[in-house]
Amino acid sequence: MINLTQHSKITVESLFEKSLKVKSDFKKSAVQKTWPEGSGTAALLFFESSTRTRFSFESAAIRAGYYPLVLDINTGTSLEKGESVIDTIRNIEAMRPSFFVIRCDKNFDLQKLSEQISVPVINAGWGIQGHPTQALLDSLTLFEKWQTLENKKILFVGDVKHSRVVASHLELSKILNYKIGLCAPQEFQRENAILDCLQFDKLETGLRWADAVIALRVQKERHDGKNFDSATYRLKYGLTESSIKSLGSSAFIMHPGPINYGTELDENILQDSRSLILKQVENGVFLREALIRNIDKEINA
Ligand code: CP
Repeated sequence: MINLTQHSKITVESLFEKSLKVKSDFKKSAVQKTWPEGSGTAALLFFESSTRTRFSFESAAIRAGYYPLVLDINTGTSLEKGESVIDTIRNIEAMRPSFFVIRCDKNFDLQKLSEQISVPVINAGWGIQGHPTQALLDSLTLFEKWQTLENKKILFVGDVKHSRVVASHLELSKILNYKIGLCAPQEFQRENAILDCLQFDKLETGLRWADAVIALRVQKERHDGKNFDSATYRLKYGLTESSIKSLGSSAFIMHPGPINYGTELDENILQDSRSLILKQVENGVFLREALIRNIDKEINA
């Protein structure tokens, strides 16, 4: 799964139902601690840093009966000796994993790779192109609350331009029929989103409109060294005790993580009764387990 465009509302909602069933089964029984004889391996290749996505795919693979083999760019690989990403993947493919989970930057063509490789590839975050499992887990978390996303209003605040999460939500919103609002400073706006989405200049107006707000991480590593003033940004676009007074009492607060506290969101917002931020992380494992179990059915069909 590289993007979400090929999926229907029925397949996405059935993935959500499956994730919630996996969740309730997990809460009823002890987690599987051994791998069945002859079980496969999952190749998790992280060419960019990750905490949530990597750990949740590792947990999900184990719970679904696959042994996770993890390549972490930060922990010493032959990339340091000049081996290319594509050659790394070719060599790991030769070791016959059952499927790949790959995070990579924009310089790599994950779509083309997925067409060339012999086993399924799951996009775990690709440049600013997309992060489909993040959009799915965000929506699962809201689906669990609302039972549908039809006509719901989701506001994204902040660094829209560099957000692969927004890119995937733009795809998913067309499938599940939810509305997207954007509130971003000029330099963080995204041209291809403008026609499809409501734009809010003022955070207060956007928050009054929204059924859920998703604050976005300011992605300084993708800003080409431009100056950024965190304090000024927080005053206009930060989710703070003061700004979230404009959000409805039954609306929800979310963030895909990692969070720059004191920039896009203040730490005490985690304790707000409307915050689903750690629920997103919890549900990420169940969503990814359900996705792997669907792939498992395809592999063994
Ligand atoms: N939300 C997310 O993708 O977090 P990580 O970068 O830690 O995986």
